[in-house]
Amino acid sequence: MWKGRFKTETAELLKQYSESISFDWRLYRHDIAGSIAHSKALLDGGLLTGDEQTQIESGLLTIRDEIERGGFKFSRDLEDIHMNIEAELTKRIGAAGAKLHTARSRNDQVALDLRLYLRDETDAISRSVQELQRSLVALAERNADVIIPGYTHLQRAQPVLFAHHLLAYVEMLQRDADRLADARKRINVMPLGSGAIAGSTINLNRELIAKELGFPAITQNSMDAVSDRDFACELLAAIALIGVHLSRLSEDLILWASSEFKFITISDAFTTGSSLMPQKKNPDVAELTRGKTGRLIGNLVSLLTTMKGLPMTYNRDMQEDKEPVFDSVDTIKAALDVCAAMLLEIEVHADRAAEAVNDPLLLATDLADYLVKRGVPFRQAHEVIGKTVALCAERGVTFHELTLADYQKLSPAFENGVLALLDVRKSIDERQTIGAPSTKNVAAQLQRWREKLAS
Ligand code: ARG
Repeated sequence: MWKGRFKTETAELLKQYSESISFDWRLYRHDIAGSIAHSKALLDGGLLTGDEQTQIESGLLTIRDEIERGGFKFSRDLEDIHMNIEAELTKRIGAAGAKLHTARSRNDQVALDLRLYLRDETDAISRSVQELQRSLVALAERNADVIIPGYTHLQRAQPVLFAHHLLAYVEMLQRDADRLADARKRINVMPLGSGAIAGSTINLNRELIAKELGFPAITQNSMDAVSDRDFACELLAAIALIGVHLSRLSEDLILWASSEFKFITISDAFTTGSSLMPQKKNPDVAELTRGKTGRLIGNLVSLLTTMKGLPMTYNRDMQEDKEPVFDSVDTIKAALDVCAAMLLEIEVHADRAAEAVNDPLLLATDLADYLVKRGVPFRQAHEVIGKTVALCAERGVTFHELTLADYQKLSPAFENGVLALLDVRKSIDERQTIGAPSTKNVAAQLQRWREKLAS
């Protein structure tokens, strides 16, 4: 492609070092769509005849079909997907093919391909995020009555509905979906026509290309357009954060599936055994997801690091954008899909959850609130209940075994009937503030999500 300027062949070692076809071949569909749109702009500008444009378009479509059927032979000597396709086209149709690269550089071509690819993949990831939200809502609805201890510092804190816990992840994933939609806006800008750095002396109808490819906007600075990978960084950041959310969900599932908790059983289809210990049933999906999140964060850091030292404009370093991008896209889609499928088959052990939540100490804050409602300042109430807990510990009993006299010795504000308060379900249903887990609130949230996710 650059033989005019060079006297000797590229060294074999360099060919191996610089090729990207082994991984960027997967941009072929977008590369071909971009080239067809480009050929239409060349036709519009009088740089191709109608016949030449037709030859280019049908030649490219034939190549696309061959790649799809696995019958196309990629050549490492042609370095990347852009040159592989163009060279093959020219081999097949001759002169017209050699005109395709008019007013174009691989610098704006690769920027276009990556944007087209990421636009599609952002949509696919968004669909998978929504599917996982649906799975979480379904699991919550199937176990709408289950109460578990909520934890802070991994210490039992207060009772919550299991559904409330799961809906927390639905909220996180909704922010992820919003971030994807936002990143998509900046992916969806058309860079072709920026050339290598400074556009072209040949006037190209960029609006036509944008319209052909469904871009609502066109880049406005050719130097920015060929050197910008912000849109890829943003998407990798959004993906890394989805990974963080999946990793936290995984950690919850791993804990819940342990013998110590035993709140859930993950189905055989989504667990594995041990080659040594016959009794083992391991939550590998969750562990792998937690593990793969490291790669997603690494990919973001990798791309940011690649970009941070680059002088304007395009530098070959930028070819290193592809592997982290492809890996993050593949990994997050797989993780979202497998988690969504696994959740649908989780069995919840309401009895074990009830046992765990039956710890009266979880209602200590309710007792403090009881005193507050009787006029005791909260700090004081907190201290009184602290002493109540200490008294229980001293006697080896729970709140229920203390007498009214015991309570009244701790604070005269305690009245007959205080013990009736010590009921987990009641405690939950008293929590009616917006966002709190009363049965009624959670049912309304479940319905809100069901309706939102149905569309
Ligand atoms: N394979 C290259 C990449 O991925 C395409 C652009 C190459 N441009 C160049 N001037 N060598 O970035």
